[in-house]
Amino acid sequence: MYYSLISYINFLINSTNQHGIHSPFVYDFTTKCLYKKNKNNRQIIKLLNEYRKSLLSNKNTIYITDFGAGSRVFKSNKRSISAIAKNVGISKKRSNSLFNIVQYFKPKQILEIGTSLGIATTCLSLGNTNARIITLEGCPETAKIAKNQYKKFKLDNIKIQVGEFKDTLPQIVKKNKFDLIYFDGNHKKEATINYFKQCLPTANKETVFIFDDIHWNKEMEQAWEYIKNHKKVTVSIDTFHWGIVFFRKEQPKEHFIIKV
Ligand SMILES: C[S@@+](CC[C@H](N)C(=O)[O-])C[C@H]1O[C@@H](n2cnc3c(N)ncnc32)[C@H](O)[C@@H]1O
Repeated sequence: MYYSLISYINFLINSTNQHGIHSPFVYDFTTKCLYKKNKNNRQIIKLLNEYRKSLLSNKNTIYITDFGAGSRVFKSNKRSISAIAKNVGISKKRSNSLFNIVQYFKPKQILEIGTSLGIATTCLSLGNTNARIITLEGCPETAKIAKNQYKKFKLDNIKIQVGEFKDTLPQIVKKNKFDLIYFDGNHKKEATINYFKQCLPTANKETVFIFDDIHWNKEMEQAWEYIKNHKKVTVSIDTFHWGIVFFRKEQPKEHFIIKV
């Protein structure tokens, strides 16, 4: 908690808004996408809220498979669906941003690493209903709930792959190229860097990678340092909760810290 607070204070000191951005690409992305209010997408916001609400009102319990990243909230592996939805899924603010990012870049092939109950997958799916989305989840019981939710909400552009990332990810990256990847699985340094490296060959110069919770702990900050300094990454953006990277060859390497 103390670590997060110090990180956030550092972030606030170093961050800027659109007025400090000189790159036209990053300026447009910030003003037209990250700062965009979703007033015109009432239908979609309603659907996203309904998806979330249906999970929050589900008091059934499941046994989750723990992959060792640990939880700050749960002490036991028996958890209610509502508690998972409340504590693990993407926040409302971030789900709107994720939806906006997909609408803005219109990626056709999307990968999500870490499905949980599929709240973020829903944003990816609704952001571009023409996209093909693959989402990876290791816990069979959690994946089953997500799968049922996709069916219930008629989100038919999502394919969920169940299994440990060390088994599923190599297969997926071998067979696919991605325009957007949302990394929200294992919040550990080695794992995050490992997934990043495995996914690099699937990226093109328009691809965007989004890393969740880059300031979650010291390890995640170290992983983020590694990623943003990688030679293939040109533009990197730290919004505190997310690290967003691009591989645009036409742009010089530059790092931005933007308060959203
Ligand atoms: C933070 S949650 C994903 C939240 C989701 N993206 C959202 O915002 O709604 C991370 C998920 O990754 C899964 N996971 C973590 N480590 C894994 C691993 N090594 N292999 C497979 N699944 C894993 C967990 O079971 C958990 O459901």
